[in-house]
Amino acid sequence: MPTIITTDFGEAPGQGMVQQYALTNDLGNTVKITNYGALVTSIVCYGGEMVIGFDSLAGYLEGNPYYGATIGRYGNRIAGAQFSLNEEQFDLVANDNGNQLHGGPKGFDKYVWTASTEETSHYASLRLTHVSPDGDMGFPGELTVHVTYTWDNENALRINYEATSTKDTIVNLTNHTYFNIGTADTVHGLELVVSADRYVPVNEAGIPFGETEPVVGTPFDFTSAKPVGQDIDADHPQIQSANGYDNTWAINDYDGSLRPFAVLSDPASGRKLFCSTTEPGVQVFTTNFGSGDYTERGGRPLTTHRAICLETQHFPDSPNQENFTTPRLKVGETYRTTTVYRFE
Ligand code: GAL
Repeated sequence: MPTIITTDFGEAPGQGMVQQYALTNDLGNTVKITNYGALVTSIVCYGGEMVIGFDSLAGYLEGNPYYGATIGRYGNRIAGAQFSLNEEQFDLVANDNGNQLHGGPKGFDKYVWTASTEETSHYASLRLTHVSPDGDMGFPGELTVHVTYTWDNENALRINYEATSTKDTIVNLTNHTYFNIGTADTVHGLELVVSADRYVPVNEAGIPFGETEPVVGTPFDFTSAKPVGQDIDADHPQIQSANGYDNTWAINDYDGSLRPFAVLSDPASGRKLFCSTTEPGVQVFTTNFGSGDYTERGGRPLTTHRAICLETQHFPDSPNQENFTTPRLKVGETYRTTTVYRFE
């Protein structure tokens, strides 16, 4: 029967002792999650570590480019840190070239969440809750958020997001796990398929120009399996300005139902990661930092293109973009999205 073991993970300044929850399924594979930032710290399948992270809270406090984190209230960028809703303008706290990124300087990834656990014969699950006050980082409404991680006997990690608000607001929750399912220092040799015929070009600050563009004939074409590294240095303005991939792909046939959108595979080991989501987009970020800008487990310097993020979400800056749908949440409604990462 799947089990959960809870241990102390470290002290968050001003927020008390933080826990780590180890969810182990009947195959002996373990997902670890901490209630600090509702973040995934480790996924070990058949002896191999699948994600970048740290083994204690200290690493996350010292410098974390959102490893494993739950991102809120609004994943990705909002241009000028401003948006309008019901004809009222809201000024957000900026943290990225005058724009807001990933919910602002103190997003959901920096709070200790309240946890409850459940063990059944099919899965172990961890439900994390956070209440964000009205006006937090500039967003309207007191937002109550639940993120439920379920790890089952098929090696599927299901993430259910739920939110309600006391005022009409916007919300775009995602998870920022950095995957490397292989054993190499980069993801160049992993193969990726993304079910997306179009992607979202952005300016140098990561703000969309306003349209999606076809992937065909560009480095962004992953409609059939291609090594992540094949075009990662291509002479293409989007790739050159980001130092790799850092764009949203528009998932084909989006209709809000749970649908497969990507498969990442490691030809060397045969490991695979199957991804599905109810969201319209996936931000693919290939860890484009300079080698050594950050560290990872064991204090090792993080190398460029070390891992890949597959962040499911609505498109960047959607509240200010007339061609993109915006995830608005009205009083009395419940925001619900799901993303599943399954390992084979
Ligand atoms: C990604 C984003 C990147 C970078 C990164 C930070 O989601 O697309 O531009 O900001 O987060 O770790």
